[in-house]
Amino acid sequence: MVKVINVVGARPNFMKVAPIVAAMKARPEKFQPLVVHTGQHYDADMSDSFFRDLNLPQPDTHLEVGSGSHAVQTALVMQRFEPVVLREQPDWVLVVGDVNSTIACALVCVKLGVKVGHVEAGLRSRDRTMPEEINRLLTDQIADLLFTPSSDADANLRAEGIPEERIRFVGNVMIDSLHQNLERARRSSVRADLGVGDSDYAVMTLHRPSNVDFPETFARILQALESITQAMPVVFPVHPRTRKTIAELGLSERVQAMKNLRVIDPLGYLDFLSLYSGSRLVLTDSGGIQEETTALGIPCLTLRENTERPITVELGTNVVVGTDPEKIVNAAAAAVNGARKKIARQPPLWDGHTAERILDVLEEVSP
Ligand code: UD1
Repeated sequence: MVKVINVVGARPNFMKVAPIVAAMKARPEKFQPLVVHTGQHYDADMSDSFFRDLNLPQPDTHLEVGSGSHAVQTALVMQRFEPVVLREQPDWVLVVGDVNSTIACALVCVKLGVKVGHVEAGLRSRDRTMPEEINRLLTDQIADLLFTPSSDADANLRAEGIPEERIRFVGNVMIDSLHQNLERARRSSVRADLGVGDSDYAVMTLHRPSNVDFPETFARILQALESITQAMPVVFPVHPRTRKTIAELGLSERVQAMKNLRVIDPLGYLDFLSLYSGSRLVLTDSGGIQEETTALGIPCLTLRENTERPITVELGTNVVVGTDPEKIVNAAAAAVNGARKKIARQPPLWDGHTAERILDVLEEVSP
């Protein structure tokens, strides 16, 4: 029996861990899965609703760390996770993605000599001002097994001197969740409730500090939006960090003045899937949404200067446009008018079976 602690902390973790835990429960003779929630995200619509939507079992342990500076948040996760590992004595701890909870829990494990696997390893933006890039680099240095979503990730790890036997190319586990939930998402009434869906509409999400914490950058994005909303409605589910900065930076009036901009609270997994899967265009600074739109063939504009997911540009529908208003508006028009006709291809192993491959590896390496 392989006892595994699966760590979740923030919103983008839930859809990566849910298929892994479900796959473990489907092999009860082999796996004993536990779920630990660090509490990095805690609002009902940033956390609880995802447990419901994804049928993720309630956490066996909740560390309730909440928000704080990077140092405080990371330290608190470490302090509260260590006794859980000591108590449970797992064979493996799985951490996913690149949030502060990921590096914090990986660091606890490696110091205790407990084996840790990193799911979604090897992605690199090469932008060390992103907190996530530091989390990715350090987690990959210390984890025992690195489960990668794409071959560019394998190449990055090799270039950093990671031994071959630690690297396992398994595909993209988030796409497992997408496949498992698309049918259920289609039953959501969110589009009708928002009054979109009969004609073209776009969806936008923004939460990167580099975009929403700086007034000039945020204003450039709003300028682009003022133009795009002339052509079609844009639905904007607002991350709590972004809601706060809109108010703090004095941008509320400008946001409210856009008649065709639907500003709403963050959506749950199924409602958001329903919303973007029916959209004509997605504008985002999220990593995961670049991948999900690629999997569904929806045009995506990434409002950043770089991406740690180059495969979504090479094979998928993603274009990295940055935050220059003219570039955003032109790229939006090109995507919508089909001038940039791009047939999305599915990256290798984004096939809905990644969780099973992760379990196969864990079985193979466990005595
Ligand atoms: C975190 C991750 C980021 C991920 C994002 C997805 C890190 C370094 N960042 O960023 O990689 O893409 O989650 O959402 O781990 N807040 C609430 N309610 C919540 C959670 C947060 O109101 O449930 C507010 C708090 O004011 C908090 C702020 O949002 O201070 C930022 O939260 P935090 O977890 O620090 O980072 P995110 O911006 O969410």
